[in-house]
Amino acid sequence: MFRILCSTTRQTTINFCSNNSALRVRNSSNVYNIVSRTQRNKPPVEVIKWVLLVIPVTSFGLGCWQMYRLRWKLELIDIMSAKANAAPVELPHDLSDLDGMEYVPVKVRGVFLHDKEFTIGPRALIEAEGPARPGSLMSDPKKNQGWLVITPFKLKETGQVILINRGWVPQTMKAKEQHSASFIKGEVELTGIVRLTEKRPPFMPKNNPEKGAWFTRDLDQMAATIGCEPVWLDARGIPDPPPGWPVPNQTRVTLRNEHMSYIVTWLSLSAFTSVMWHRYFIRKLPLL
Ligand SMILES: *[C@@H]1O[C@H](CO)[C@@H](O)[C@H](O)[C@H]1NC(C)=O
Repeated sequence: MFRILCSTTRQTTINFCSNNSALRVRNSSNVYNIVSRTQRNKPPVEVIKWVLLVIPVTSFGLGCWQMYRLRWKLELIDIMSAKANAAPVELPHDLSDLDGMEYVPVKVRGVFLHDKEFTIGPRALIEAEGPARPGSLMSDPKKNQGWLVITPFKLKETGQVILINRGWVPQTMKAKEQHSASFIKGEVELTGIVRLTEKRPPFMPKNNPEKGAWFTRDLDQMAATIGCEPVWLDARGIPDPPPGWPVPNQTRVTLRNEHMSYIVTWLSLSAFTSVMWHRYFIRKLPLL
């Protein structure tokens, strides 16, 4: 856009002078007016003005796109909740069929292998029924800090071992001795919701099977460690549970739903940059 007409190896400074709209190059002694803005048919400020308009327009567009995504996500959550509340079906013979059955309740019979039990977390308690009262989680920090008790379960029919998320225990009951009163020796029949493997969310530490530290439901890693099938059921609970039985029904049917915060971010960025743009280019006021 600018052509520098002087060739010099000496130190050169370039001034952009907005008052007389000229670009000057000054070396040690001389001042050259190189390009006067008025000589150009496309003044650079005009170009910058329209280029900068892209920011508020694009962020507005992204905000609208997130609104559309939010609606889609809410519909998906409805579909999944309906699935999870349906009548339970038998566990398929081919366990790989479960891949297409996430959130479907299935019935299983077998025995718990409590000696191989482990915990995953920390997780907040998911409370049964009813919308959470605002602040209820805040007022009871105990419900925020807890663990899911995962017990391998040997199926009666096939002898295969799967994983059962028995439910939630508070921090004070994390250690095996603390919830050993809930161990069951004999055969049980129970219903659980099929859950598939989950990706490690950003910022979540990695699972450390050697230390028994589990943060995410990585079914292949668990199967390799425990020696079981990569199958996980969120138990619905059993009739007459022994004392200290973890709180069942710990199925989080909420997908990662952060669209609302994206909407707020994009639209406020759009609003802010629009105001700045209008102020600077239309009203010709200085920036802030
Ligand atoms: C768990 O959910 C099932 C089915 O939704 C329900 O029948 C059962 O009472 C629940 N158990 C607890 C302890 O909330």
